[in-house]
Amino acid sequence: MQNVVSPPMQDPVFVKDAFAKIAGRYMLTNHVLSLGTDILWRRKVARMVAALKPATLLDLATGTGDLAEAIAKASPATKITGADFSAPMLDVARQRQLPQAEWLVADAMATPFADASFDVVTVAFGLRNMADWPKAIQEMARVTRPGGHLVVLDFSLPTLPGLRGGYRFYLHKVLPKLAGLLTGQRAAYEYLSGTIERFPSGPAMVDLLTANGFATGQATPLSGGIASIYVVRKAA
Ligand SMILES: C[S@@+](CC[C@H](N)C(=O)[O-])C[C@H]1O[C@@H](n2cnc3c(N)ncnc32)[C@H](O)[C@@H]1O
Repeated sequence: MQNVVSPPMQDPVFVKDAFAKIAGRYMLTNHVLSLGTDILWRRKVARMVAALKPATLLDLATGTGDLAEAIAKASPATKITGADFSAPMLDVARQRQLPQAEWLVADAMATPFADASFDVVTVAFGLRNMADWPKAIQEMARVTRPGGHLVVLDFSLPTLPGLRGGYRFYLHKVLPKLAGLLTGQRAAYEYLSGTIERFPSGPAMVDLLTANGFATGQATPLSGGIASIYVVRKAA
């Protein structure tokens, strides 16, 4: 195993407060900051999930339910549970009125679900914010059935040096200012830039996932590597 990064302790009180403050503008801000690319990333995850044909799926850190809705469209027969520890974010998710989904306030670090409850667990832009990454992944593995999958979508750092430099400039100099103007919560987006720098990318993330309850996996970089999808399988 290589390059497994020790997790920083993200502060759940700060994270919960930050998302409560931006809940109403979260989706619009995402679409502006990514020029709509985040919609395409979630659709790609939804297509990958559909290929796994899950009967039951848990979308952790579901937030305003963007990924849950994309999955619902691609997999109409899948029963979806969307869980998040931010009630204001879930209030926005509930407005989607997806008949196949139920929404639950729950902490991903200690969920109320029985072992092996879900065929697939998904988490988009959520794991990075959790207080203890190995512990969170172990909890995801606990609720995934043997032979089931975890699908993670999150930011990563581009590997090409030119692209990486430009992306870092955007991340630290442009994004917090722009998002601060859109949401009035600049500190939340300075925090975002910091977490992206610390979060493992590519093979290091696959190592972290397979060291904490999953057997095999692969990383798919998106948009030059500024985001990645990780699909890992729990041993049967
Ligand atoms: C950036 S949003 C992502 C929302 C959604 N998955 C998406 O793709 O837009 C991160 C979400 O993670 C949630 N979150 C962070 N830590 C959590 C935890 N320990 N348990 C449950 N939710 C958590 C936050 O409340 C927030 O709604």
